[in-house]
Amino acid sequence: MPGRVAGKKAFITGGAQGLGAAMARKLAAEGAKVSLADINLDGAKAVAAEINAEHGEGAAFAFPLDVTKEEQWVFALEEADEAMGGISVLVNNAGISRGGDIESLTLEDWKTVMSVNVDSVFLGTKHALKYMRAHQPGSIVNISSIAGLIAAHNSPSYNASKAAVWLLSKGIALHCAKQGLDIRSNSIHPTFIDTPILDPLRQRFGKEEAEAKLGRQVPLGHIGEPDDIANACLYLASDESKFMTGAELKLDGGISAM
Ligand SMILES: NC(=O)c1ccc[n+]([C@@H]2O[C@H](COP(=O)([O-])OP(=O)(O)OC[C@H]3O[C@@H](n4cnc5c(N)ncnc54)[C@H](O)[C@@H]3O)[C@@H](O)[C@H]2O)c1
Repeated sequence: MPGRVAGKKAFITGGAQGLGAAMARKLAAEGAKVSLADINLDGAKAVAAEINAEHGEGAAFAFPLDVTKEEQWVFALEEADEAMGGISVLVNNAGISRGGDIESLTLEDWKTVMSVNVDSVFLGTKHALKYMRAHQPGSIVNISSIAGLIAAHNSPSYNASKAAVWLLSKGIALHCAKQGLDIRSNSIHPTFIDTPILDPLRQRFGKEEAEAKLGRQVPLGHIGEPDDIANACLYLASDESKFMTGAELKLDGGISAM
């Protein structure tokens, strides 16, 4: 039976671990070719090797990419297009967080977060559309956060950057529609998910206490699993979501319902 994304060619940033790796594994398992791009090239290569061992050589590729650097985007997309025979799905996933409230956060940390979380989506989309035009239907999946819709007292740069990704996704959707392209753009908004991004908290409180603390903030009572997000990405990457663009999927265990 063909997979749900058979024939799709996906370029995924931040694919070396966490959600990026989970989404790559899921898309590959459903028939897509995947390119994992990360500043951690060894990590991306390891995930690609694991996928190739399971699905056959040529299912996954790894490329070095700092998502804040335009020239690296140009090079990585060109390489991935050649390796996969096209690009039809772009998953803008790489992202970081820096602590500090509005008074203690440094300008340097503010700029770093905005650059990794927002410049990345701008640059990636700007340069990937050239390739995606040639392989329609296409889908752009931007990983925002529930923190892009709901603010906290101590994460101004993360909140602002993820809110920017949310609205940028809609602007991209309208641009593509106006151009008559069959390329959709949507955002995903997870709450706390079990990935290494939570490690600083685990180090501070211990794994069990940290996860319980976060879980208490979620109506469903626990943090999410990477596959909860990978399943949403699979839906958005596939043609099953062909009438969905400029929209957001909240995978937050009910937080935003409160
Ligand atoms: N895990 C969560 O609780 C959660 C919740 C909401 C949103 N998110 C978002 O999901 C995305 C993935 O998060 P995760 O939990 O997998 O995080 P993670 O820290 O486990 O993985 C992030 C990946 O991005 C890569 N990366 C960081 N900076 C980069 C750069 N400049 N260029 C290229 N790659 C870079 C890292 O090397 C790493 O492989 C992020 O955008 C994050 O904000 C995560």
